[in-house]
Amino acid sequence: MSLENLPRTIWWEDDSVRMVDQRPPPLVGDILVCNLYQGVCTAISSMAVRGAPALGVAAALGVALWVRNQSEDYGDMTTFLAGLDDVADEIAATRPTAVNLLWGAERMKTIAHANADMQLAELKELLVQEALNILEEDEARNREIGRLGAELLAEESAVLTHCNAGSLATAYFGTALGVIFTAFEQGKIANVWVDETRPVLQGARLTAWELILAGVPCALISDNMAASVMGAGLVDAVIVGADRIAANGDVANKIGTYGLAILAHEHGIPFYVAAPTSSVDLTLPDGKGVVIEQRDPHEVSGVAVSGMIEAQTPDEAKALDTLTENGPYSVGVQRGHRLEIVRKGAGYGFDGWFGTAPPNVPVYNPAFDVTPARYVTAIITERGVARPDYSASLAEMCEGSGAIHEL
Ligand code: MRU
Repeated sequence: MSLENLPRTIWWEDDSVRMVDQRPPPLVGDILVCNLYQGVCTAISSMAVRGAPALGVAAALGVALWVRNQSEDYGDMTTFLAGLDDVADEIAATRPTAVNLLWGAERMKTIAHANADMQLAELKELLVQEALNILEEDEARNREIGRLGAELLAEESAVLTHCNAGSLATAYFGTALGVIFTAFEQGKIANVWVDETRPVLQGARLTAWELILAGVPCALISDNMAASVMGAGLVDAVIVGADRIAANGDVANKIGTYGLAILAHEHGIPFYVAAPTSSVDLTLPDGKGVVIEQRDPHEVSGVAVSGMIEAQTPDEAKALDTLTENGPYSVGVQRGHRLEIVRKGAGYGFDGWFGTAPPNVPVYNPAFDVTPARYVTAIITERGVARPDYSASLAEMCEGSGAIHEL
């Protein structure tokens, strides 16, 4: 087991955007191919690709895909730029909380407008190349975050992480997990506590998967066990990622992060946030202005399931063939559960949702929360480790970095 086992999350191949589909529980490594930018929008909103830095890359590649699909006689440059702006805005609006999505889309707009004097064919090449640069830079940034963050960890560290701020949440390597991977390579990691991260289970489905592939010692816990492991003295540091960091250091991240920060504070455990400067939004004075995404109530009132069906006999295979010959077959399950049998490659799979609460129970499902800066020990960026007072340290770290300053 080693880090080389980690797959790329999102890439450009044969003029299409490809990505590991992060929806199936558990992850199976299906690859999604997007030939149109609308496919990238759907992949983002359905969370086939997710995690703030990966969303920044997806936004840039989505715009590049639109660019690639425009013919050379598109019309005049003004019309082309207006079209590009619309597409970039549409992609940026697919999810509201991670500022990286906006950052990736804005960077493509900026480069297009700054080079409007070029021939269209030339500009198209430049824009595709810019998206590829964003992809490559992401990995470089994460490796630097990993290097700087690992220095903060002591030998034999037991670390707790939440959600997935791993390779899958970035183009490659990860932010919070990038720190853990680097420290692991240095022989510093004794154990990683993986919060399962209800309701979408990014910890259980994605972080645990990555750590096992990389051979990092880890143990999965349900979210409500964090206080107990901290109280038992089994956690030396908490490390999480971020979706948007306000100018004063307030951190928006996966729901549950705020509670962990309070728990860490109570137990005297350092609470680190690992994020690129593209996650910093200096237009927001504090976290009150962060728009928190509200998601489908079904995420809370039940669990999604999927898997493959192995036909045991030729008769069973024939029956499954018949059921699925006109597309997915919905099994009539009672009590609001859903189960579909689908053809997958040469075999059959199932996708379902099973309710765990009474049908029609009102649900509140915010996908993120905001951790006040006073609970954050340090913010590890690719440009250095910011410490309180964050208003000063973050501004200094973001100077000339291209972090979002004004819209
Ligand atoms: O809803 P998700 O899965 O996109 O949320 C992801 C997170 O909250 C991550 O912790 C954050 O984006 C940082 S990823 C390096």
